[in-house]
Amino acid sequence: MCILITREQIVEALIDLVEPTSCRSFAELQWIRDVMIKPEQVSMTIVLSPDAADASVREQVTEAAKAKLASIGVEQAHIRIRLASEQELEQAGLREPKSSVTRDPHAPQGHGANLEELSPLLNPERNVTFIAVASGKGGVGKSTVTVNLAVAMSRLGKKVGLIDADIYGFSVPDMMGIEDRPIVENERVIPIERFGVQIMSMGFFVEDNSPVVWRGPMLGKMLRNFFAEVAWGDLDVVLLDLPPGTGDVALDIHQMIPQSKEIIVTTPHGTAAFVAARAGTMAMSTNHEIIGVVENMAYMQCGKCGEKEYVFGRGGGGKLAEALHVPLLAQIPLGAADNHPQEPDFSPSVYKADHTIGQMYIELAQSLIDRGQV
Ligand SMILES: Nc1ncnc2c1ncn2[C@@H]1O[C@H](COP(=O)(O)OP(=O)(O)OP(=O)(O)O)[C@@H](O)[C@H]1O
Ligand SMILES: [Mg+2]
Repeated sequence: MCILITREQIVEALIDLVEPTSCRSFAELQWIRDVMIKPEQVSMTIVLSPDAADASVREQVTEAAKAKLASIGVEQAHIRIRLASEQELEQAGLREPKSSVTRDPHAPQGHGANLEELSPLLNPERNVTFIAVASGKGGVGKSTVTVNLAVAMSRLGKKVGLIDADIYGFSVPDMMGIEDRPIVENERVIPIERFGVQIMSMGFFVEDNSPVVWRGPMLGKMLRNFFAEVAWGDLDVVLLDLPPGTGDVALDIHQMIPQSKEIIVTTPHGTAAFVAARAGTMAMSTNHEIIGVVENMAYMQCGKCGEKEYVFGRGGGGKLAEALHVPLLAQIPLGAADNHPQEPDFSPSVYKADHTIGQMYIELAQSLIDRGQV
């Protein structure tokens, strides 16, 4: 299939696709976003009001959009659904402007106050380095890279914090084998320490791994809380594990921590790198410095002969780094962490310091220190 079609034709085809809560067209609301036309596929984001966000509505909207696109010859359409932010709802006239909205009694404390005042961590005088680990693509190893880079920096003597900013899809507690829950002292939550890293995750506050079903704006509040309500110790660097894509959380991070730098993770496959690049484009558009690219799952080392097998293709990380004009910081191969549940401090995803991949993370951490990034 080769698609010869314009963005306007796509929006025109979707003109009578109606947003269920407002009964207005998505096109009129300007809630058809990020339209990308590639020879083999059209992709886009459709923004949905949080009031209509249950799974069946999402599916209906996705299917209806695909059917309309098929009618103009688009056979392969990738539709992402994202919830409207408070600002987008206001702009669309679906919410009263903030000033006249009564404060949500369930909203976490500190919302609306100056974050820097609430969290000394964000005070520029403290000189804490923030590094968000991002990718436009899911499942490429952002969390694995964040966790292992944090531990490696700690092994090199840095005081490291880790924020699991994947509020819906938190995975850091499981990956690091954390079963404890944080305690509260003087009305502040004390982060959990593991392998010398101070960690905060939504997973600490959810019972039995039940899914988090908050609405979009709540995410931003939770993130604010991770700064305002947490007693972070004295830190040199904070790593943030971002959810996939360039949605609300990534935007919130960009706004809350304008000084944050970014590492982009990709696998070596060309398409993965193409999708991963969106996070880079977003970082550039918001003037965030991209430190570099980490290519994860770069190859598999054959046990006997030591030869590299390029299971997921080759070259994606290099190409992405070139396109973003940043260095390719590391190429991490496929490999299990080889930890055993019986070990003290068992963690499924943290490579030991003497593991080949653990060593690579230490080299990566050292190279960031040598470059003056941390
Ligand atoms: N180098 C590697 N070798 C082997 N397995 C890996 C490697 N990197 C990541 N994985 C595995 O791949 C899966 C996805 O990794 P991870 O959860 O870190 O990705 P992610 O980008 O954070 O995903 P999401 O987009 O869902 O947040 C996990 O099961 C992880 O253990
Ligand atoms: Mg993740």
